[in-house]
Amino acid sequence: MTTTDDAREQAAVDLSTGPTALSPTAADSGASASSSFRTTGQYSGSGAGADTARVDALARALLGAVHQVIREHEVTYPEFQAAKRWLMDVGEGGEWPLFLDVFVEHAVEEVAARTQTGTVGTILGPYYLPDQVQLASPASLPARPDQAGTPLLFRGRVTDTDGAAVPGAKLDIWQADEQGYYSGFAPGIPAGNLRAVVSADAEGRFEISTIQPAPYQVPTDGPTGALISAAGWHPWRPAHLHLLVSAPGHRAVTTQLYFAGGEYLDSDVAEATKPELILDPEDVGDGRREVTYDFVLETA
Ligand code: DHB
Ligand code: FE
Repeated sequence: MTTTDDAREQAAVDLSTGPTALSPTAADSGASASSSFRTTGQYSGSGAGADTARVDALARALLGAVHQVIREHEVTYPEFQAAKRWLMDVGEGGEWPLFLDVFVEHAVEEVAARTQTGTVGTILGPYYLPDQVQLASPASLPARPDQAGTPLLFRGRVTDTDGAAVPGAKLDIWQADEQGYYSGFAPGIPAGNLRAVVSADAEGRFEISTIQPAPYQVPTDGPTGALISAAGWHPWRPAHLHLLVSAPGHRAVTTQLYFAGGEYLDSDVAEATKPELILDPEDVGDGRREVTYDFVLETA
């Protein structure tokens, strides 16, 4: 039996016996992330009908950059064939969403951010799932009855750029658990765990009870992990909450919030941290923590 089969078998056992999370394999995470990407509306067409001049410019620039690397670094035939094999493996393992969101999305987001005012955005990542349970503030994220982790009360207000309350604001929130694993992508976690769409009140105020997530590790057993290890990099992202904050008539913000003093804040493998997005929760006794963060949405 392969390691993957072992993990799957374990996962099946765990689902019936309790909440011991297992580390997801790259194949599990990659396949789930690929199918989620195809079905959640992030992708709206095949590219057919795209402007020819734009395709020409981008394809030329991209290939030119590759040619430039080859010339500058005197890439050899064995290296070229190894790269071809690796690219095939990433595709066959379904790891393109993981790879691209870790290593490329931050640059696309940086370009999008040039026209954005209000709360700073960052990458969406591969683990968003739409249509989660809708809750009214004050809300507790769905969690296991015996969910481990430091309790965190996350509250704040959604306003427009003039500081006025935004009615009808929704916070779509998703996060890893205390082991760094996401429901829907790692085996053994109940569907919808630590995911919800929370409606703020009429003054834009929200209060969400959850736990502090752990840092996230890019799966190390697939081709993305192989590249990370072959290059001597580390596979970690700092602990983070994901948020998609929206309101009628306003431009939605996709962002993440990080934790002051957390590991990997200065070496995020996905290069998606920003100083404006770091929370510093206060200890309020009993091992509980609380933090306030206000969101600002620009008018659409
Ligand atoms: C990836 C995972 C994340 O949790 C995230 O926020 C960004 C990227 C990834 O594995 O690609
Ligand atoms: Fe994430």
